[in-house]
Amino acid sequence: SPAPAASAGVRETLDDIRREMGECRRCALGAGRTNLVFGTGNPAARLMIIGEAPGRDEDLRGEPFVGEAGQLLTKIIEAMGFAREDVYICNVLKCRPPHNRDPAPVEIEACSSLMFRQVKAVAPEAILALGTFAVQAILGTKEPISRLRGRFHDYHGIPLMPTFHPAFLLRNPERKREVWDDVRQVMGLLGKEVSG
Ligand code: URA
Repeated sequence: SPAPAASAGVRETLDDIRREMGECRRCALGAGRTNLVFGTGNPAARLMIIGEAPGRDEDLRGEPFVGEAGQLLTKIIEAMGFAREDVYICNVLKCRPPHNRDPAPVEIEACSSLMFRQVKAVAPEAILALGTFAVQAILGTKEPISRLRGRFHDYHGIPLMPTFHPAFLLRNPERKREVWDDVRQVMGLLGKEVSG
């Protein structure tokens, strides 16, 4: 059936997008997944967090950021004055690349318009984008994350802050200070109390 929400000029919902994805086979990753990892959290979140792609734990559970990196992300969210359920969390890719290899251009091409529709559905006040891959895919740039982080970028009218991926922080804990600088800017934008 046609999409009545779109034709009536009403905002498409996350449920509409998930329903349309169905048992997605827009790229080859669909054949190897356990679960499609669509996204989780508050559909009207003020803050949206976008990662790269599901890993092993996420593929098994069907939820983004539930492994070790996800536990660190949850701590970061809480340090920002939010509960995990307050924000909306998803990835650029909805299916796990084999052995967590980097996503291929055809996979990004197949999937990233769905992420854009999720952003429009949630309409957050700010986006936190995690890691080189996600930031480069979202902003359409090859600039390294080290040069992109630390300032807001405009993503279709929404301020987007790039920062290091929590999996990178697990290997390089000395870089937490930079992530804290980045999230503090997001907190400032959202009127969250910044201490320390
Ligand atoms: N890394 C990501 O980028 N996303 C997840 O969901 C888990 C780990």
